[in-house]
Amino acid sequence: MSIADLTRTEPIVQPEVPIATDLNAPPFVTQRALLHWVADIAKLTKPERIEWCDGSDAEWHRLTKLLVDAGSMIPLNAQKRPNSFLVRSDPDDVARVEDRTFICSVNEADAGPTNNWRDPDEMNEELRGLFDGSMRGRTMYVVPFSMGPYGGPISQVGIQLTDSPYAVLNLRIMTRMGFDALAQIDEKTPWVPAVHSVGAPLVDATGRRVADVAWPSNSTKYICHFPETREIWSFGSGYGGNALLSKKCFSLRIGSFMGLQEGWLAEHMLILKLTSPEGKAYHMAAAFPSACGKTNLAMLRPTVPGWKAETIGDDIAWLRPGADGRLFAINPEAGFFGVAPGTGEKTNPVAMDTVASNTIFTNVALTDDGDVWWEGMTEATPDHLIDWRGEEWTPDSGRPAAHPNSRFTVPIQQCPTLSEEWYENAGVPLDAIIFGGRRATNIPLVAEAFDWQHGVFIGATMSSEQTAAAEGTVGDLRRDPFAMLPFCGYNMADYWGHWLEIGKTLGNKAPSIFQVNWFRKDADGSFLWPGFGENSRVLEWIARRVDGDVATENAPMGRVPAAGTFNLEGLDVSDEAMEKLFHVDRNMWTAECDLTEEYFDKFGERVPAALTDELAQLRGRLTT
Ligand code: OXD
Ligand code: MN
Repeated sequence: MSIADLTRTEPIVQPEVPIATDLNAPPFVTQRALLHWVADIAKLTKPERIEWCDGSDAEWHRLTKLLVDAGSMIPLNAQKRPNSFLVRSDPDDVARVEDRTFICSVNEADAGPTNNWRDPDEMNEELRGLFDGSMRGRTMYVVPFSMGPYGGPISQVGIQLTDSPYAVLNLRIMTRMGFDALAQIDEKTPWVPAVHSVGAPLVDATGRRVADVAWPSNSTKYICHFPETREIWSFGSGYGGNALLSKKCFSLRIGSFMGLQEGWLAEHMLILKLTSPEGKAYHMAAAFPSACGKTNLAMLRPTVPGWKAETIGDDIAWLRPGADGRLFAINPEAGFFGVAPGTGEKTNPVAMDTVASNTIFTNVALTDDGDVWWEGMTEATPDHLIDWRGEEWTPDSGRPAAHPNSRFTVPIQQCPTLSEEWYENAGVPLDAIIFGGRRATNIPLVAEAFDWQHGVFIGATMSSEQTAAAEGTVGDLRRDPFAMLPFCGYNMADYWGHWLEIGKTLGNKAPSIFQVNWFRKDADGSFLWPGFGENSRVLEWIARRVDGDVATENAPMGRVPAAGTFNLEGLDVSDEAMEKLFHVDRNMWTAECDLTEEYFDKFGERVPAALTDELAQLRGRLTT
């Protein structure tokens, strides 16, 4: 079918450099809205050709070969790391760009004080200008994907149009991508349209073809979300969080607003399954800000004898009340886009096994024998590497070999601890929700919220210490409510209200809420808790609490383990350290309450009364 047929404009004049005149849609695609949209974007962006992605192995091999031949991807040593590749980005395009991320809701107040807001009509006009001809000389890929199992009650479908084959390959790992996802869409199925261009046309203003670069991008970047129309437009970046629109853009920013409208929650949470020695299974979802060990916890190897942990997700959870009144969770993703540095045999052996093959590495270092390396991967540092910028590197170079935000993209099915329940259409019923952060002071190793409302207060007031210098200083806390600060697609105070409403829907079937902190420090700056596999002791306590099997004591910030009820068998943590892990410094807590009050004030009238009430109750508990 031709683009002109669908867009009903003057016939396309064949320019010197060709632009697509054929939609190239597979014959079974008949949905008019979809065809119109693809035609409209093609007419705007003017790609040379259009390709619909089927998600096949053949397509994977064709696109990887295309990028290898173009010098954009380096195939790794096939013996050491089969079917795996290294990609080096533009050094200026290595991370999410929060200051270029916009929520374009109709009313500014609906975006709230934690988001950058732009008027949707103005932004739309600006974007149309930027995207005009932005794909000239490139292929526009039509990438259908399902978030969650096909047809599942919590799943959703999206379609990304992109001129980046790197994005296509990553989307094939991170989502259920291809014609099976396309088959989910009929005339009545809602789907989220997402447009992405690296913003580097291969044809200049005079119509001349320009040389391509390994990692095309544009110094102008826009990551835009239109919550009311559920649209995503991303321009100028090839980096995962900005270019894989299924992830933060759809699954969290647009997803959270869809959840508000439809009665569900899109969360920055891992999901794990824990099985007790008695064979009872517990499902837990946990929100942690970045760099607080979410992937490590999702792939935990318990040290407590007899307990088993399985992985369901490491980054995103969609939660929806089920027909039986419980809260069900899916991981909508199909892969991991994990931070490489710090991942090693000691810290996360499961992740190391997971990335043994079929993995795309971005911005890590290359070893002399064609494998990858990053800081923290092995105890010994190689004598010579090619660093993430493609330059010679030795341990004396005085700079990291891998970029601190270098990544691996790998299919979740390769995870040796993957739970069968990841495949479950309806998701898993949650027994516990956990909130964590990196806190040198105040927050105890573990505490149970008194009830759902108190749990929402804990989530809303979550914070993490940003740098070593700031640690231990209450004034230097960075608030990251529900670990959703950069990801909530609407006013954060309304989001808290939505959590409170979901609690009312769930009633006594609501999962228990807990707060954890692996990062509490002693006066000399050393960690009081060993962390990693030993965190299974905290999860064991949480599971026992879910069953009401262990006694608690009331502390101002929640219920903590009663003396002698926390399993320390075989662990060398002194009674004194345990005391410090739960110590309450009332002055510091009062100072933290003052900061919380200031924080709530930023949201004005929209802060739910239940949360200001919780703050008053906490102050009260601190004085008794
Ligand atoms: C993040 C990520 O930035 O998961 O949180 O990539
Ligand atoms: Mn994340």
